[in-house]
Amino acid sequence: MTAHLIDGRAEAERLLAQVKSRIQAFTAWYARRPCLAVILVGDDIASAVYVRAKMRCAVEAGIASIPYYLPENTSEDDLLRLLDDLNDSSIVDGILVQLPLPPHITKDRVLHHIHPEKDVDGFHPVNAGLLATGQPCVVPCTPQGCLQLVHTVRKELMGLHVVVVGRSTIVGRPAAQVFLNADCSVTIIHKDSRDVPGHCRDADILVVAAGHAGLIQRDWVKPGAIVIDVGINRIEGPSGPRIVGDVAYDEVREVAAAITPVPGGVGPMTVATLMENTLFCAETRQRARSTLFLAGAAL
Ligand code: GUN
Repeated sequence: MTAHLIDGRAEAERLLAQVKSRIQAFTAWYARRPCLAVILVGDDIASAVYVRAKMRCAVEAGIASIPYYLPENTSEDDLLRLLDDLNDSSIVDGILVQLPLPPHITKDRVLHHIHPEKDVDGFHPVNAGLLATGQPCVVPCTPQGCLQLVHTVRKELMGLHVVVVGRSTIVGRPAAQVFLNADCSVTIIHKDSRDVPGHCRDADILVVAAGHAGLIQRDWVKPGAIVIDVGINRIEGPSGPRIVGDVAYDEVREVAAAITPVPGGVGPMTVATLMENTLFCAETRQRARSTLFLAGAAL
């Protein structure tokens, strides 16, 4: 068997086309564009590339974006003060702080400082709690993108066994919630789990976010499984550096039913989903404003 290749770029284009037309309707109705503030602290090269991709996509989608490129030595207090301003801003709908942050800044203090209604990443505990209890919320972009990519090859997921490799708060944990909410049975495993290959072999859908190039081998995958590779690893190849995933793609595609490539799989979907989340935040804020206005008029 040679796996069906799940084309993340094509799927991201399809999602963006939908989001773009919803943004046009939003802009016409409210006479303003949704607005996303993106903060990058320091000069991590990979993060700068991701931020540029997000800003480019925002422009294409019709979202106003405000970049903040802050020096590496920015203090945590200064960053929190900027977040206070953005939280209070009437024009900013979404706030994204690109990770990782420099080591002198406490990631959780920063992420928890973003107002949950503007939390386009869905990392705030309020959004994480809403997701965990199956309620409407901002869903983290990468896990939501993974679910949509699975849906391109299988609509009904009820009862399927999803194994998530990795327990990060950005991908692994929310991915488990997203698939649980889609009626799957979910197992999360990580580097300290016993018999990682055995768990992987049990998966109908294998979602890999381990940050370990080529970790998942052919005999770790059940024939006919759907494999979603979230890894982005830079390795030295014979003809220079290249990006590979956490899955040994060439061998695993011989047993899987469907697989996402790296690059061109989960990455583009993550960016497209960020645009959808920004619109979601803008719509939620506008609805709250209209409710307040109507409540005021009734008094
Ligand atoms: N760094 C790597 N992935 C992400 C993400 O999804 N959001 C943010 N804010 N930073 C990241």
